[in-house]
Amino acid sequence: MLIRECTAADVERVEEAYPTGAHRRHAQTVERQQTGECTFLVAWDGEESLGHGEVVWQGCKTTEVRATYPECPEINGLRVYRAEMRGRGIGTALIRSAEDRARERGFQWIGLGVADDNPSAARLYERLGYDAGIRYTAAWSYEDDAGVKHVIEDPRTFMVRDLTT
Ligand SMILES: CC(C)(COP(=O)(O)OP(=O)(O)OC[C@H]1O[C@@H](n2cnc3c(N)ncnc32)[C@H](O)[C@@H]1OP(=O)(O)O)[C@@H](O)C(=O)NCCC(=O)NCCS
Repeated sequence: MLIRECTAADVERVEEAYPTGAHRRHAQTVERQQTGECTFLVAWDGEESLGHGEVVWQGCKTTEVRATYPECPEINGLRVYRAEMRGRGIGTALIRSAEDRARERGFQWIGLGVADDNPSAARLYERLGYDAGIRYTAAWSYEDDAGVKHVIEDPRTFMVRDLTT
């Protein structure tokens, strides 16, 4: 398994593994990466994309989190696509790769938001050295295929890791 930055040439294969339909979310993430806003990490087994995560360099978009943890990039949208591929270290490898890149850029901290209804992910992050920080509500919206907008409010905990320890 190899973790590397997703390129425009990879987008179709990532779509195949984790389709986002008309939203073309992977293409959008690559575009954001090209502006320097994020780094889009993808795990590969040969030609097959297994999972991904995005490092957002400016940190969490929720103002209160950014105010509490300035200079703290956020790992976002971590996912191993196929359930049978979970629990084999791919998520850990994506996180460690994000941490290495943050360290290379001179950041001391990195963080991620975990939803209240995802305690098994929270346990994994704790094991990897992340401490629970502040609680917040992540608000985001999406349009479904019928063009209907859905607004989601998701109670979360922002967890942080000191990259120097
Ligand atoms: C959370 C996730 C990215 C972790 O990736 P992974 O490759 O399964 O993680 P690893 O193999 O490195 O570590 C396994 C640990 O992840 C945790 N975990 C969280 N959700 C899990 C799941 N659905 N299946 C298996 N393990 C899961 C377990 O604590 C497991 O620890 P264990 O092996 O002691 O049981 C992945 O399970 C996933 O995509 N889950 C669904 C989407 C999600 O919850 N994303 C996180 C948003 S914050």
